[in-house]
Amino acid sequence: VQQSSSLKEEIIRLKKEKDVVILAHNYQIPDVQDIADFTGDSLGLSRQAAKVPQKTILFCGVHFMAETAAIISPEKRVLIPDLEAGCSLSDSITIDELRNWKKQHPNAITVGYVNTTAEIKSELDYCCTSANAVNVVKAIPADKEILFLPDMFLGSYVAKVTGRKNMFIWAGECHVHAGIKPEDITEKLNSLKDAEFVIHPECSCTTPMMYDAAAGSFDGNKVSILSTEGMLNHVHNSKAKNFVVATETGILYKMKQQNPDKNFIPASEKAECQYMKMITLEKVYDALIQEKNQVIVPKEIADKARTAIERMLAIS
Ligand code: 13P
Ligand code: SF4
Repeated sequence: VQQSSSLKEEIIRLKKEKDVVILAHNYQIPDVQDIADFTGDSLGLSRQAAKVPQKTILFCGVHFMAETAAIISPEKRVLIPDLEAGCSLSDSITIDELRNWKKQHPNAITVGYVNTTAEIKSELDYCCTSANAVNVVKAIPADKEILFLPDMFLGSYVAKVTGRKNMFIWAGECHVHAGIKPEDITEKLNSLKDAEFVIHPECSCTTPMMYDAAAGSFDGNKVSILSTEGMLNHVHNSKAKNFVVATETGILYKMKQQNPDKNFIPASEKAECQYMKMITLEKVYDALIQEKNQVIVPKEIADKARTAIERMLAIS
């Protein structure tokens, strides 16, 4: 404990001395969230990256998130504590697969989740996040075919809510959210009838529940489909005492910290993203002191990808 607190102090001193801002995703380990200037979801952190005055961003999250920050703020330097921190969802479509798919649907509009590589984003018409996917799809004229990628559960939820029939959905998934099983959830909800249920739209087993969530309840429990930051705001503002939370367990740290009188029960204790957990205090310190692990997106890719991201930002 003493070692981690002195490392934290040293990181806080160094980031001030070097004028570096630290952004951390809501799934990061508590120690890393503690030394961050801002925590948030993918969308919020990208916006923050564009707003902050510092010229260097140390991004504590996974690679596609740091890339998105670099695309939005090309004049800034973005560092990541571990360049290998990937994402199974973003790995679920390759650039050749996307180009072939587009060839089969030459008039379709492509909408891609933010959990994609910069190269994939450079081939998209629109980007979206869990917080705004429904609004992005609603903004596309009804007669246009849509290719939605890569998350099939988010895609099927969006298709259901918008009633879109001409939407083709890629069969990708996040192994963490796909691993949360229906029995984990029903067991917890049945034992806590007064609990509110919050779900991240990448959850697979919850797809039927998500459909009900569009109507606001599932088997008696109030349900909401939200991004990670949306969940934090929702549980804070809600009058409920108990919450069952279906997403990566890193979110529970801030939930408990901000709401000491409420109870948060993970839908599955095993829902842990090993990529997010690759970011440790030691790696944060090393990246900061050596100013290493810059995330570089080639200009021609970044310029094309920025258009899709900016269209999304204009909608949400
Ligand atoms: P959020 O944008 O909701 O934070 O989700 C990011 C993510 O990777 C979910 O697994
Ligand atoms: Fe990717 Fe899933 Fe990890 Fe989120 S939780 S970063 S979608 S692997």
